[in-house]
Amino acid sequence: MSKIVIAIDGYSGCGKSSTAKAVAKELGYTYIDTGAMYRAATLHFLNNFVTISNPHEVDKALKNLHISFHYNPETGQQETFLNGLNVESEIRKMKISSKVSEIAAIKEVRKELVAQQKGYGKKKGVVMDGRDVGSVVFPDAELKVFMSANLQTRAERRQQELLEKGDMVDLEEIKNNLAKRDEIDSSREVGPLIKVSDAIEIDTSYLTFQEQVAQIVDKAKQII
Ligand code: C5P
Repeated sequence: MSKIVIAIDGYSGCGKSSTAKAVAKELGYTYIDTGAMYRAATLHFLNNFVTISNPHEVDKALKNLHISFHYNPETGQQETFLNGLNVESEIRKMKISSKVSEIAAIKEVRKELVAQQKGYGKKKGVVMDGRDVGSVVFPDAELKVFMSANLQTRAERRQQELLEKGDMVDLEEIKNNLAKRDEIDSSREVGPLIKVSDAIEIDTSYLTFQEQVAQIVDKAKQII
């Protein structure tokens, strides 16, 4: 069986990561969460008080930015590391969500992270989720998926996820954050969030998680 690249893009909070993770598990593929990379970069910029309008500071920060993923056998999950430290739970907090789109819009940041992402896909057998995976990172991906869901559903799901991690956040705050990120992500100059013409669209508003995963796995199996 041949191995392919599966690119999953879409709006904030429509379940891309959990879906992509489950698809990868089912196919025995590697899962790469590009959002986690932008989140880790954001934490790094905040920790180092980087002035984003200063190209020298941005450049210096990027030189000292090392993001990696490690499997944790205890949780059975892949976790994100920033310069050797496990930052998995910290990067999911609202403090990062409210800043990440601003950092992700910086041209140099995208250049650096996209290069790393391209490297992950060289050997194929990868499911990668983000905003520009099908358009910029892997324009030749064999399977491209664009996920969407209505804002209310996305916000409710995200609130539940945060609650499970002990983070109680107001629904309106989450809605505003998702809408604002979508707006910044869709309108930026470099690597904006777009639905490419060869992507299949999946609206997850009224699908169960299992249905979402099955649709993508079925499509992948038709190709491989
Ligand atoms: O996927 P997640 O919601 O964790 O992504 C967080 C943020 O990272 C997005 O709102 C977006 O600003 C940025 N991002 C991006 N390009 C990607 C993945 C994420 O700009 N490929």
